[in-house]
Amino acid sequence: MVVTTPETLSDDKIQHYRDKGFVKVPGILSKDEAAEFHDIIYRFAERKRSLGEEDPGVRDREVFTQIVNFWHEDAGIRGLTLHPNVGGVAQKLAGVPLRLWHDHMLIKQPHNKTPTEFHQDQPYWPHADSTQSISAWIALCDVPVERGCMTFLSGSHRRTDLSAQNLNDAESFLGIAPEFRYGERVTVPLEAGDCTFHHSRCAHMATPNDTDVPRVAHIVIYMDATTTFSGNKHIVTDPLALKEGEALDGELLPFVERFASLR
Ligand code: SIN
Ligand code: NI
Repeated sequence: MVVTTPETLSDDKIQHYRDKGFVKVPGILSKDEAAEFHDIIYRFAERKRSLGEEDPGVRDREVFTQIVNFWHEDAGIRGLTLHPNVGGVAQKLAGVPLRLWHDHMLIKQPHNKTPTEFHQDQPYWPHADSTQSISAWIALCDVPVERGCMTFLSGSHRRTDLSAQNLNDAESFLGIAPEFRYGERVTVPLEAGDCTFHHSRCAHMATPNDTDVPRVAHIVIYMDATTTFSGNKHIVTDPLALKEGEALDGELLPFVERFASLR
């Protein structure tokens, strides 16, 4: 199996990302890396989950179990979140220097029955001006459609004017952007080690997990290196006591260029 690197990423992939707002990149991790990170992430998430939601970074919902921004607590997770290959490909797709915003593990428990409904990510974030922010959605197990894979609405990244949508409500995004109801939808099943990248304004959903196996995905979100703080509340920025207009800066928000030296 060939691993895709920033050097081998084709111009077609970059063009696809810019046109549609998302792209599939097979083999962003080797199969061995995917298996190793699967065990690290799943074990960590189950431990956090067993402690309950006392920790604000842990949300155990029907739609998914979400564990937000723990890469700095655990060397194994850091190895994935600061993976220079994933960050390097993200930066080439975005076309601007990037830094980490945050990571999260999203586990769809077996037979969870609940889709993640269409939404854009960007409106959830306290970013005044991160126009090229991008997420890497990394499959750490095989994710066929039946296990909760992603579907994207092509071209929806151009709707930069929308307020936050509810990912538990199927009508929330399509109600305010009805032109996408009959537009192109692309469903992207992934094998372990594959990844999709999506622009933070590209609307996406994920199918329920109707299998016996937990769907384990690790998502790494990058923002423009120049992003400033909008003043809105967010779990990642609340402890930083930033003032509106200040740069989102600090050691928890490292530049992609520094990932290799920080792992
Ligand atoms: C999911 O994996 O269920 C949703 C991912 C996302 O919203 O980015
Ligand atoms: Ni999302």
